[in-house]
Amino acid sequence: MTDAVEAETGPATEQLPFGAPELLDAVAGTERVLDLGCGSGRLTVALARAGAAVTGLDTSRERLEQARRRAGEGGVELDLVAADMNDPLPFQDGSFDAATSRLVLMAAADPAATLRELRRVVVPNGRIATVIWASLDRNPWFSAPRAAIAAVLGAERAAFARVFGKLGDPAEAAEVHRAAGLRDVEATLLREHVSAADAAEHWQRLARENGHFRRVAEALTEAERDAVVAEVAVRLEPYGTAGSIRVPRTLVLVTARR
Ligand SMILES: C[S@@+](CC[C@H](N)C(=O)[O-])C[C@H]1O[C@@H](n2cnc3c(N)ncnc32)[C@H](O)[C@@H]1O
Repeated sequence: MTDAVEAETGPATEQLPFGAPELLDAVAGTERVLDLGCGSGRLTVALARAGAAVTGLDTSRERLEQARRRAGEGGVELDLVAADMNDPLPFQDGSFDAATSRLVLMAAADPAATLRELRRVVVPNGRIATVIWASLDRNPWFSAPRAAIAAVLGAERAAFARVFGKLGDPAEAAEVHRAAGLRDVEATLLREHVSAADAAEHWQRLARENGHFRRVAEALTEAERDAVVAEVAVRLEPYGTAGSIRVPRTLVLVTARR
């Protein structure tokens, strides 16, 4: 598992994750779709349920098994492939009509090389749509609690998910797609808010839903937890007061064609 971010569990009927509806729209109507870094298959299964023949690729056999189970629960079949996006992809040229990738590209050793491989495996004029987290300043839901951990417990305890926000400027994300030889490249920001009663509830949710924060939270003493929550509260003050906070989350969506 790489240093990437997002909770990975949930029932097949769950709401689509942030950014997935836009990726579905971007490749709507295409027949054969590759979902790069498919994880536990939330987007992958949604693509299949929309009618595509979908291949999901991931390095994690555990995640692929979760995707297989999710597909079964969703009544669809997926072709699931264990492979590394940092290697040449194990597909012939033009094997797919479109490719998607959600919250993965920022973890590639050489994102342009990975995108060149995606370009190779889709047909001429085929669509490619990717989503990654925008820069940290646009994602205080994540960056404020992580900074709070660093302030209270030291930088080492906050040294997780270092790829979060990488390529997170739309112009930079677009440029790396162009550098891979893709055309009609468009990058846009997708925004939503996460709401909570207060910083304590925001922290609680992160610790429940996000593996990185869960691992830190599980190792805290009560005094450390109180200190971290107090620090989170200070850092989230700009987003509301006790009773209700609304904290922004932002993705960069890039759509392009071969
Ligand atoms: C944040 S998760 C996103 C999963 C899925 N795309 C989603 O939206 O729910 C990142 C995924 O990328 C996969 N991944 C990380 N590095 C990879 C690599 N080098 N090649 C293929 N998959 C990789 C991880 O195993 C993980 O499943």
